[in-house]
Amino acid sequence: MRALLNTALMIIALALLPASVAIAESGTADASPKGIGSEGYTWNKMTPDRVEALKKSGDAERGRDAFRGCRGCHKLDGFGRVDGLYPKLTGQHASVIIKQVTDIRSGVRSNPKMEPFASADAVSLQELADIAAFLSKETTIKENGKGPGDQVRLGETIYTKNGCNKCHGKQGEGNKERVYPVVAAQHYSYLLREMELIKLGTRGNSHPDMVAAMRNLSPLEMEAVADYLSRLPDYRDTGTKKAGCAQ
Ligand code: HEC
Ligand code: HEC
Repeated sequence: MRALLNTALMIIALALLPASVAIAESGTADASPKGIGSEGYTWNKMTPDRVEALKKSGDAERGRDAFRGCRGCHKLDGFGRVDGLYPKLTGQHASVIIKQVTDIRSGVRSNPKMEPFASADAVSLQELADIAAFLSKETTIKENGKGPGDQVRLGETIYTKNGCNKCHGKQGEGNKERVYPVVAAQHYSYLLREMELIKLGTRGNSHPDMVAAMRNLSPLEMEAVADYLSRLPDYRDTGTKKAGCAQ
């Protein structure tokens, strides 16, 4: 029995091997190989590109044009896809857009699919500042991808109990100055996927306090939180709509 078990474990280990090798190879010196929260890890690294992009003043109209190279995935208005394959960027803070794109460009955040489109050849730092201005100001009336809707109250309790609201805000509005993303009205499947990547530490860039909080959540609790967040109104709509969650 024991020998059988050992053989089975060996087969599983061998099956996993190529994937772990691929992950190791795709990492870069910046990608904190020792893991989130390890010595020397800084979630908010000021990469040279990020410093330069933040110095530039962004023009939303020029940004609409520069967004050309991104539309294939993120769609014309930055709405992404309701199935969550591509996130909604519309209404995200400009500071967050700049951090995420420059983190992806430098390999700090792992995103091999988008990396060529975020490279210095594909988009200049002025274009990036313009795109960030465009996306943060753009509005959409489209419905985002939502969760099943039966876990909203539970999700709200978990979100508050675990201190997610301390950074992402009561309404999921994030914080532009502190570079905390808007999480309200994001596509459900994208939220869930990111929470899993953050918990595992494979996303690359994450605030260590968030990773610690995320590790407290079971898969079912993560679904409930994603359900809740996906059903919060677009944070800029809170003045016109009743505050709280649309059910
Ligand atoms: C080939 C498809 C593709 C293209 C083209 C692309 N992206 Fe992305 N982008 C993605 C995917 C996939 C993700 C989410 C990855 C993940 O799951 O972590 C993403 C994530 C992002 C994020 C992070 C969003 C968040 O909420 O953290 C930003 C910002 C972004 N893209 C901006 C851009 C910009 C600007 C361009 C054009 C210069 C662009 N993308 C082009 C596929 C693409
Ligand atoms: C200490 C502040 C902090 C706390 C607490 C926190 N987060 Fe975050 N969160 C961040 C930051 C910062 C990012 C962006 C990652 C980066 O740039 O390093 C982020 C990213 C995310 C994302 C991905 C958003 C996107 O657009 O890609 C999700 C989803 C998320 N957080 C959910 C949560 C949940 C759920 C909790 C509670 C369990 C939580 N966060 C707790 C700061 C925090």
